[in-house]
Amino acid sequence: MITLHEEIAVQRSIEDCFRYVSDFRTVAEWDATAIASKKCTPGPIGLGTRFIVHCLVGPTKLRLEYEIVEYCPWASIVLVGKSRFFEVRDVIVFTEKGAQTHISYTAEFKYHLGIGSFENQLEAGMRDMGSQSLQGLKEALDNNPSPPTLSDCTARADRWVAPGVAMFSKWGYRRSLARRKPDSSFLDGQHVVLTGANSGLGLATCIALAEAGADLTLVIRNPAKQEALLQVLESETGRTDITIEIADLSLMADVTALSDRLLRKGTPIDVLINNAGALFNDYALTSEGLEQSFALLLASPSLLTHKLRPLLKGHHTPSRVINVVSGGMYTEKLVCERLIMTPPHYQGAKAYARAKRALTVLSELWAEQWRKDGIIVNAMHPGWADTPGVASALPTFRSITRRILRTSEEGADTIIWLAKAKEAGGLSGRLFLDREPRTPYLLSKTQEPAAQRAQLEAFIDAQIEAAQA
Ligand SMILES: NC(=O)c1ccc[n+]([C@@H]2O[C@H](COP(=O)([O-])OP(=O)(O)OC[C@H]3O[C@@H](n4cnc5c(N)ncnc54)[C@H](OP(=O)(O)O)[C@@H]3O)[C@@H](O)[C@H]2O)c1
Repeated sequence: MITLHEEIAVQRSIEDCFRYVSDFRTVAEWDATAIASKKCTPGPIGLGTRFIVHCLVGPTKLRLEYEIVEYCPWASIVLVGKSRFFEVRDVIVFTEKGAQTHISYTAEFKYHLGIGSFENQLEAGMRDMGSQSLQGLKEALDNNPSPPTLSDCTARADRWVAPGVAMFSKWGYRRSLARRKPDSSFLDGQHVVLTGANSGLGLATCIALAEAGADLTLVIRNPAKQEALLQVLESETGRTDITIEIADLSLMADVTALSDRLLRKGTPIDVLINNAGALFNDYALTSEGLEQSFALLLASPSLLTHKLRPLLKGHHTPSRVINVVSGGMYTEKLVCERLIMTPPHYQGAKAYARAKRALTVLSELWAEQWRKDGIIVNAMHPGWADTPGVASALPTFRSITRRILRTSEEGADTIIWLAKAKEAGGLSGRLFLDREPRTPYLLSKTQEPAAQRAQLEAFIDAQIEAAQA
């Protein structure tokens, strides 16, 4: 048997340390050998929660099945991990000492028959690995990374366009895992408003934000989906304190009524996530007479964000607005007069891409205008994720690309990071993919003239006014 023992002290509350470590999905962020970890039992983390952890030890890939076998909140956790070569018992004890939390970590490895005889050769390497892992945990909990910058290699890929687009696939997400910094932040007491919460990226986002402790107001369109959403959130996270608001966001009257309700409640908003969206293959007008792609993808987030601005302003930390756009926008240039497509020229994918391009530009304009008010605005695109929206609007694309599509959780990862991570608050007016700021233009011909940028807000407002008249 080899026993490793390490101790660290970090400037974080004992509750934060316990929550971060007991969610063993985080092990991939700080352990020297873990490359991926997922929770494989439903419900909040607790006694009996199991995780599958994939490790790389030298050239050898190892799969470990971990289970929490003792769980004493804020005090200690014991996990047992089993692999084909060994069993490990991790005993983690948390102690509060002034403003610091001390973490004592003991790992006892018992090797299976035949391997035990190599223990002497293995021991030095294991000790080194244990010490690196605890240093990784200390860094993760000290939680002070600087805001990310565009890496040289991503900038090169974007210059060649095709490799840049290839990163929209699950390979882009996997590639980004090696580069990212741990995120041990929580959102306790922070109010997050999220649209399109019942499906795809929105659902993955609200589960993660509920786990992070956020006070959630979730906007959905269909009241019949409310119960199912609340049930999923309760069974996944144990949370029963989630607020649901119903609004058809393609209707400006509904957006206004929703904003009025939230303004009346008066709860300051720390994070607003404009996620609801759809690609409409067929041309249609809303009952207010607006073309539906324009209405849902552009007019709606614009009106909602403007209306909620009094709640976004002037809190203890800067508020964040996150606009979910799409890599499709890289194909289109902003031309205000072309934002509303009409038959026979209407093409759903074009109308969608143009609206998402315009929302990306709006994010930059708002970031500039609202910087002085302490409002951070960023756009993100999720790459290509296998969601119900993609299945229904793009069935052919989905069947061709199915093997390389991201999961909803992978697509939502950057939304969650932008909402939560401390360092994400250090950048505003940027477009992100996989937690990295990216160029908004892969093709120089899609760069809009300054005059189009200057007209954009007035153009959208005029359409909204006409719809409300
Ligand atoms: N998946 C991708 O690969 C991908 C790529 C680029 C960008 N995006 C963007 O990511 C966001 C989420 O898309 P998704 O892929 O997760 O699609 P999804 O599974 O269809 O989810 C879209 C969400 O938006 C809601 N929504 C649609 N129309 C609405 C309306 N009129 N009023 C209120 N809510 C409405 C939907 O509600 P219902 O369930 O009631 O319809 C659903 O909750 C969208 O903005 C999309 O454009 C996705």
